[in-house]
Amino acid sequence: MATGHEKVEKNVGLLIVLTVAVIAVGGLVEIVPLFFQKSTTEAVAGLKPYPALELEGRDIYIRESCMVCHSQMIRPFRAETERYGHYSVAGEFVYDRPFQWGSKRTGPDLHRVGGRYSDEWHRAHLMNPRDVVPESIMPGYPWLAKNKLDGSLVQRKMQVLRTLGHPYTDDDIKNAPAALEGKSEMDALIAYLQGLGTTIKARR
Ligand code: HEC
Repeated sequence: MATGHEKVEKNVGLLIVLTVAVIAVGGLVEIVPLFFQKSTTEAVAGLKPYPALELEGRDIYIRESCMVCHSQMIRPFRAETERYGHYSVAGEFVYDRPFQWGSKRTGPDLHRVGGRYSDEWHRAHLMNPRDVVPESIMPGYPWLAKNKLDGSLVQRKMQVLRTLGHPYTDDDIKNAPAALEGKSEMDALIAYLQGLGTTIKARR
């Protein structure tokens, strides 16, 4: 007599339908709670939305596709934490739209690079990486130093982000153009790099 199990194994259509059902339910059980868990949805203590200059620097990071070679996601393994510092936690990324986690590390992870080097080091490195790291294969970005920062959209960006829950004050938005005055694209990018991952580092 064919048992229920045998029927499923011998009927490919039924097997596919049931397999999909099991995976779908399993997926929902794993994923849905993350949308409601405090540790994955709320900002870690002390996290602030990006100040105007860093916000612009972040857009330059995206424009220049730095994430193609750099991740911003330190995994909770000893080999990672010894090299980069505290592993990344979800609450550090609530003001990142979109995330810059990346998936490829041609270069090192950058999530805790903030404060690791001086601004001058970054400037030299971005002009020509081989000046400070002789074996580097990273391209130089010398034009960023020449390009004046275009801050014409900064207030609009901050207003939109505020509607999404980034706690910018009226003063933050009002003073944003002044904060960008006379800055180059490289200044903004370096400000962004120097802020990366510092909320947790600062607490240690
Ligand atoms: C083609 C791949 C590639 C791209 C694109 C790239 N990098 Fe790199 N980056 C590297 C490599 C490889 C290193 C390691 C050698 C070095 O320090 O130069 C590195 C190192 C770095 C470091 C030093 C990290 C540390 O902990 O020592 C910083 C900061 C950095 N990159 C920033 C950037 C930024 C910002 C951009 C975009 C403007 C960028 N990189 C684009 C490959 C890349």
